[in-house]
Amino acid sequence: MCGPTGAGKTSLLNLLPRFYDPTDGRVLVGGVDIRDLVLEDLRNTVAIVTQRPILFSIPLRDNLTAARPDAPWDEVLAACEAAGVAQFATELANGYDTLIGERGVNLSGGQRQRVALARALVAGAKIVVLDDPMSAVDTQTERHLVENLRPALAGRTVLIATQRLSTVEVADRAVVLDDGVVVEAGTPEELLRAGGLFASLFGEEVSAAA
Ligand SMILES: Nc1ncnc2c1ncn2[C@@H]1O[C@H](COP(=O)(O)OP(=O)(O)OP(=O)(O)O)[C@@H](O)[C@H]1O
Ligand SMILES: [Mg+2]
Repeated sequence: MCGPTGAGKTSLLNLLPRFYDPTDGRVLVGGVDIRDLVLEDLRNTVAIVTQRPILFSIPLRDNLTAARPDAPWDEVLAACEAAGVAQFATELANGYDTLIGERGVNLSGGQRQRVALARALVAGAKIVVLDDPMSAVDTQTERHLVENLRPALAGRTVLIATQRLSTVEVADRAVVLDDGVVVEAGTPEELLRAGGLFASLFGEEVSAAA
């Protein structure tokens, strides 16, 4: 999902874990209105990485397993590889035992995003919602992440809001929002060819890369 800033991407994604409910219409998962599901079950089914993820002031290790404290450590490490956490975790003074946050190490915005991504992978949810999860990482790191995340997310439904072509182009289906309305939908290739808002958002990146 993409669209200009303020188009409503975050507002739309936040409906899924029921941070709030729609005033009109409904959200269906597998044909069921999510208001008919037990909230706890819904929240176990949907893992969301918010646009500015918040980490807890506890060791990195516990931040990673916050959604699933009994996760086997080798699974956590695999998630850290895929989400680009392993890259910097081993360089921290106490590795995965490093205390994060106010009283500990202040991670950069991009590092926090990657920890939140790894945490969502560890959670093992069937639906993963990623709200602009790589906005704070450089394009090269992002490309690397997109490649690694694809296999790590295989078999799950992934909804992702992004401003980057390299992220949106791996999607099976892209949706463009503008001023709260879906204005285009299709495969990324179709939308680039269509010459609408999607093409004007990303067309330049394509010609620059060509
Ligand atoms: N809590 C809120 N109360 C009222 N209006 C809000 C609230 N949060 C967002 N909005 C408004 O709703 C609209 C959509 O915002 P939203 O954050 O969903 O956009 P977005 O597409 O995620 O933008 P960005 O790309 O900057 O993240 C904007 O006009 C915004 O100002
Ligand atoms: Mg947003």
